[in-house]
Amino acid sequence: ENILVKQKDNVGLITFNRPKALNALCEALMIELTSALDDYEANEQIGCIVLTGSENAFAAGADVKEMQPKSFMDVYKRNFITEGWERLVKCRKPVIAAVSGYALGGGCELVEMCDIVLAAENAVFGHPEIRVGTMPGAGGTQRLPRLLGMAKALDLLLTGRRMDVREAERSGLVSRVVPTDLLLEEGRKLVADIASLPGEVLTLIKHNARSSANLTLNEGLRKERDAFHYTLSLPDREEGMRAFLEKRPPRFNSLSILKDR
Ligand code: CAA
Repeated sequence: ENILVKQKDNVGLITFNRPKALNALCEALMIELTSALDDYEANEQIGCIVLTGSENAFAAGADVKEMQPKSFMDVYKRNFITEGWERLVKCRKPVIAAVSGYALGGGCELVEMCDIVLAAENAVFGHPEIRVGTMPGAGGTQRLPRLLGMAKALDLLLTGRRMDVREAERSGLVSRVVPTDLLLEEGRKLVADIASLPGEVLTLIKHNARSSANLTLNEGLRKERDAFHYTLSLPDREEGMRAFLEKRPPRFNSLSILKDR
């Protein structure tokens, strides 16, 4: 009801679809998002997942109408803003955000969880939670300082001001900026390329880069070395290097994700 789900070749597309509420992230939407991510992750044909919204809004935050009547005990007992939100972080396949329009509050937090952020020129980012009397609850005070540095993160978090796409790119939140009318086309090219690459290695790269935040440099380097050594056992690695030496395009076939690594 709140998202559209469409598989195209090796790519799983998830489109937020609550246009009247600027894709505000109500609980029902987050449950649907969880289920879509479960399906795409289990689907061995899918190599890459795209999260997007409409032209004027990626998502304008958690649903304030839904949240307004809730009490402390309501949210505490149900561990509000956990289900769905944490599912995205646990996703093992690459997740690309294709952002157009508003990505505010919880919408910006979803962007902060994605692996590559492709943004249209009209994209606007920010954490206005303070202006409705609350604060980020899905990682904004934790991921944003790590992504942008403390000075820029606190400037945004403490004022609730909005940041345009150029500032977001300069600050390190956005990977690439594209003209607004080309967002989906550029997104399609990017994800088709990623989805054609060896799935097991994509998962290893994502997992190693993501875990770097919680490891010392030496621990991370050791872990990376083990993972690199492991790739030497993969048929796709053999094919990739053989194809390079034979001066032909590689024919990769592994899109399966590694379980429990
Ligand atoms: N929750 C619920 N409804 C929302 C919403 C939200 N976060 N954002 C927009 N909407 C709704 C509006 O209520 C409005 O609905 P009605 O027509 O029924 O009144 C509709 O979407 C269109 O919004 P506006 O009329 O406000 O559109 P605008 O173009 O004038 O302004 C906007 C756009 C600047 C994004 C403005 O809507 C806005 O400031 N939205 C709220 C942003 C916000 O505070 N987000 C943080 C939420 S808290 C959070 O996210 C906590 C967390 O970390 C998990």
